[in-house]
Amino acid sequence: MAGNMELKEKTVLITGATGGIGKALSQRLSKEKCRLAIFARKEEKLKEISTELKSGGVECIYKRCDVRNKEDVKNAVDFVYKKFGRIDLALLCAGVLIPNPIENFDSSIIKNSMEINFLGNIYFLEYLFPVMKSQGSGTIAAVSTLPDRRGVPGWGAYGASKAALSLMLESLRAEAKQKYNINIITIKPGSVKTPMIEKYPRHGAISPEKAADIIVRGIKKEKKIIQFPLLQVVMVRLTDLFPVFAYDRIPIEMQKGEGYPSAEEKTLKTP
Ligand SMILES: NC(=O)c1ccc[n+]([C@@H]2O[C@H](COP(=O)([O-])OP(=O)(O)OC[C@H]3O[C@@H](n4cnc5c(N)ncnc54)[C@H](OP(=O)(O)O)[C@@H]3O)[C@@H](O)[C@H]2O)c1
Repeated sequence: MAGNMELKEKTVLITGATGGIGKALSQRLSKEKCRLAIFARKEEKLKEISTELKSGGVECIYKRCDVRNKEDVKNAVDFVYKKFGRIDLALLCAGVLIPNPIENFDSSIIKNSMEINFLGNIYFLEYLFPVMKSQGSGTIAAVSTLPDRRGVPGWGAYGASKAALSLMLESLRAEAKQKYNINIITIKPGSVKTPMIEKYPRHGAISPEKAADIIVRGIKKEKKIIQFPLLQVVMVRLTDLFPVFAYDRIPIEMQKGEGYPSAEEKTLKTP
């Protein structure tokens, strides 16, 4: 059932706020007059964004947080709670896209992807749940990806970390809502023109501002899943229906689409 969540003056925690989607969401939510707490690793950039937002008249605090570090995550949640006394909405946008071409199958890449894209969000859930339970309400929206059901050549580390996240969020959704009035939203973007996909340009990619707009509208409507853009949603969900034997016969050139990591990227350093 479509809801109607009011965002004005709500306290919002945002991770990945120095990136394309997280920054656009911070800017978008500043227009809703939310109180913002923004996090990422690049402190200088956080300071810059916070100064810009505050000049527009909103309250904005920031702190460095590496989501791989559980202590950093605990400190981030404590920091927001101490300053604002509540956390109404958490937008978990931190993530990395690290290719893992088969030429260099390397478990350290997969570990790093899981630590940032999956476990980083789980740490946040662990510390956000007690706050939201005590409030008797709250919304946690985490960014997964649109193709979170099928493996794509070269992107297994990313896909596996996002599939794990989507499944975990789904497994928590009903219980969190029914027992504690906590909304869990899974955000599943297709291609968004951000630094993350700069090296892998995709046809039909939308701007981060447009993505932020869609996400905020979805949150207001209390959607459980926010997926976009529409054409990509249709294509990806159709591909999900292919039986395995048919999917496996698609030439990998077609499966992987544009922007497949090249074999030269086998020396790529993990961020
Ligand atoms: N762009 C797309 O087409 C697309 C599609 C589907 C899903 N997504 C997802 O959308 C989310 C946002 O991505 P984006 O496109 O905005 O990418 P982006 O511009 O590269 O931003 C990524 C953000 O994650 C932060 N981050 C990375 N590693 C971190 C760590 N260890 N600890 C804390 N923060 C960390 C980065 O900040 P610092 O470097 O300052 O830490 C940055 O703010 C990601 O979860 C991504 O997987 C993106």
